[in-house]
Amino acid sequence: MHPLEQLRDGALREIESAPEEHALEAARVKYLGKSGCISSWGEQMKTLNKDEKPIVGKLLNEVRSAVTAAIEARAQTFRAQKESKTLAGIDISLPGTPHEIGSLHPLTQILERSIQIFRRMGFALADGPDIEDEWHCFDALNTPPDHPARNEQDTFYLPGGPLLRTHTSTVQIRAMQAAPPPMRVIAPGACYRRDEIDATHSAQFHQIEGLYVDESVSVADLKGALEFFMRELFGPGTEVQFRPHYFPFTEPSLEIYVKSKALRGGEQWIEVAGSGIVHPAVFEAVNKARGDKAYDPEKWSGYAFGLGMDRLAMILFDIPDIRFFAQNDLRFLHQFV
Ligand code: PHE
Repeated sequence: MHPLEQLRDGALREIESAPEEHALEAARVKYLGKSGCISSWGEQMKTLNKDEKPIVGKLLNEVRSAVTAAIEARAQTFRAQKESKTLAGIDISLPGTPHEIGSLHPLTQILERSIQIFRRMGFALADGPDIEDEWHCFDALNTPPDHPARNEQDTFYLPGGPLLRTHTSTVQIRAMQAAPPPMRVIAPGACYRRDEIDATHSAQFHQIEGLYVDESVSVADLKGALEFFMRELFGPGTEVQFRPHYFPFTEPSLEIYVKSKALRGGEQWIEVAGSGIVHPAVFEAVNKARGDKAYDPEKWSGYAFGLGMDRLAMILFDIPDIRFFAQNDLRFLHQFV
């Protein structure tokens, strides 16, 4: 046996039986250190003759890598032992900290479904501010100063005249001011009224306004679009009823009721929207503000509607009280995951 092989076998035995890290480090220095046994063999190479050099060189390399590998393996064993000791102190059977997984608020769900349905009918989204002026909320919508809706008790007035909008119909006016016909938009958003708060009334609620202006738009178009919407949202068995009503900004005006055995309300007709054919006076007010004749009532006609979003959600999700929407009670919200 070549003395180098003897050296290797001795080294491997020593390394494998090293009881802990310090002993292993001492062995590393002894064999691989600068003045260690293996290194000094490298020095001796110089003194060898031509024939011996390659043979011993090759052997020396093999021995060096065998010893290096053995040291690394032993070090790995020590590291693993240390790790499992640390882990042994951890109780992996303890339950973790649960993650709260949120869900969309039922009103957001109704909003998203509604937008999807109206998008398929070609409606674009429009927007307007919650804090409005009287002109957009009333005057432009053919609602004169002596109209009861103007009553201070009806909405919230801010110092200096601005008010919280009582309906999203304000966005009809803003959309028409911004662009000429044809116009096909929906405008979802919050509305405010100084209502006595109870199971079906809230000081803040939500509407989806709709406005379609084109040549020769009729009540038939209005009925078609809203019947389609109600059946898409509530299911094909939904019955839809249009009842004559009065709004200053539409003529004729219609209230929309739905009924479906499968939904909250069952046999009962439930009011879900106001609607009608846009009053020519609304077009005239817009023209005056625009300073042109873009919405000529002789040429253009349109329908508008205002859907009660909270009402739609209450019917669809069987929610008995409008106040649940704003209370942020997780026991309520968790039901709509
Ligand atoms: N703005 C009306 C309301 O809040 C609803 C409506 C909108 C009626 C559009 C007709 C046309 O009751």
